[in-house]
Amino acid sequence: MAIRKITVQAYSGQKPGTSGLRKKVTVFQQPHYLENFVQSIFDSVGNISGQTIVVGGDGRFYNKTAVKTIIKMAAAAGVKSVLVGQNGILSTPAVSCVIRKYKAFGGIVLSASHNPGGEDGDFGIKYNVSNGGPAPEKITDAIYAKSQTIESYNISDTDDSKINLDSIGTYQVENTLIQVIDSVDDYAELMATLFDFSQIKQLFASGFTMRFDAMHAVSGPYAKKIIEDILKAPAGTVVNGVPLEDFGGLHPDPNPVNAEDLIFHMNKAGGPEFGAASDGDADRNMIVGPNFPVAPSDSLAILAANATLIPGYKNGISGIARSMPTSTAADKVATALGINCYETPTGWKFFGNLLDADKVTLCGEESYGTGSNHVREKDGLWAVLFWLNLIAATKKSVVQLVNEHWQRFGRNFYSRHDYEAINTDKANQLMEGLRRQLPELKGKVFANYTVKLADDFSYLDPIDGSTSSKQGIRIIFEDDSRIIFRLSGTGTEGATLRLYLEKYEKNPSSYGKATQEALSELISIADKVAKIKELTGMSEPTVVT
Ligand code: G6P
Ligand code: ZN
Repeated sequence: MAIRKITVQAYSGQKPGTSGLRKKVTVFQQPHYLENFVQSIFDSVGNISGQTIVVGGDGRFYNKTAVKTIIKMAAAAGVKSVLVGQNGILSTPAVSCVIRKYKAFGGIVLSASHNPGGEDGDFGIKYNVSNGGPAPEKITDAIYAKSQTIESYNISDTDDSKINLDSIGTYQVENTLIQVIDSVDDYAELMATLFDFSQIKQLFASGFTMRFDAMHAVSGPYAKKIIEDILKAPAGTVVNGVPLEDFGGLHPDPNPVNAEDLIFHMNKAGGPEFGAASDGDADRNMIVGPNFPVAPSDSLAILAANATLIPGYKNGISGIARSMPTSTAADKVATALGINCYETPTGWKFFGNLLDADKVTLCGEESYGTGSNHVREKDGLWAVLFWLNLIAATKKSVVQLVNEHWQRFGRNFYSRHDYEAINTDKANQLMEGLRRQLPELKGKVFANYTVKLADDFSYLDPIDGSTSSKQGIRIIFEDDSRIIFRLSGTGTEGATLRLYLEKYEKNPSSYGKATQEALSELISIADKVAKIKELTGMSEPTVVT
């Protein structure tokens, strides 16, 4: 075994987005592409020599290859020990859990989250810091800067066949100890400290029916172990539970459009009482009752309002944080509880400082992400267990819990319209057009709506004082309805325009309205202001959730 120094040229475009570097697998397969980025991480995060790091991914195509490369590079960098999930598998929240539990220096998550996988699909890599959360922007910026000037990387020439990921155990690569750990155990142990497992067990014992759709992705082994083995839900409760390298050719994104099979089962007569799904790397969640998908923004608000019913949060929550485009339903709960609700840019990384400083206990995003201070990533299965615990503790159904919440707080009708794979120049033109209009929008009247505030959202982190600007155009009306425009930071093809629509309703007789109908006027205003149809050439959004 020897350490080799490989001379390379930099690749342009290795700029981490909302959640790490995400590209087509074929881009990662270019010579030294992954290695350049890994070396840039190692050179930007402080001295990792002598430290412990965690490595794992969602099992998609290229996962194992990447894990082996990272192990050889970690060995070359003098890392003391690498904790790696068996078969290279660790869900994103599990990486966060393992970093925290073993007080590791940091970790590398291999995933493109909800993006499709397989040879023609996407791959991704992200660095998490010692609190278990995604690296803050100053680190991701440094990684990018390094990737643009890199001239060489170091790697052990150990043969890949010597790097065994299949069985739990330890061995050396160079002077580095490789510890292959069970992918699920540490995470399952953490969940047992937060939720009343015996109460949930009783719920299942009483005949409660559930369908958890793992979407052929990494939540499968976690859900099977916890929901079926530990909580004793009947076998078959978890479906599509074996992670596949291409997620069965499907799009592992838990929303009503991509998890259509779950929706089909939840809509049919005599279907399960409770449905849930998670994404590629198991950090997202969708909660569904019979014929009743729960909006992620509502889910966050409901979890917050009922948190004291759950053992892990029985002493109350210190605050709530939501990303700016997420509906303001959680703000109403915060007001009722007398706690703060923080509004951050899109991206889980912005919650880290607030969680570390105990300013908030729960966080959530409209993009089907919910989580708490138990780790520093959003956590799909955690949210599902929270709902299960809530159902077990209150003996109420999903539909009842949501309806009672609306009765108490009013309903925030909410929808997101995505225009995917549009021409990047057109997308930028659309956003610039909106920016130009900002100074004149205040006071303008559109049908029944008068503009109260129009700006480009900028966030001042109250903990470290950093500012993140240009985080999305907000048009807020007098009645607090909102239209928000952003370009996605996670897509890999052209640009994706996200239009977020929110309308607050406090008349109970209107709570039953169909969402798109309740939002129809706002939808037309958005098109009028941003010229979406004209600029994108698309008459309809690609995805409506
Ligand atoms: C990932 C991030 C989230 C973010 C979501 C959508 O899941 O972890 O924090 O909300 O992507 O991001 P995008 O930039 O595509 O809207
Ligand atoms: Zn994800």
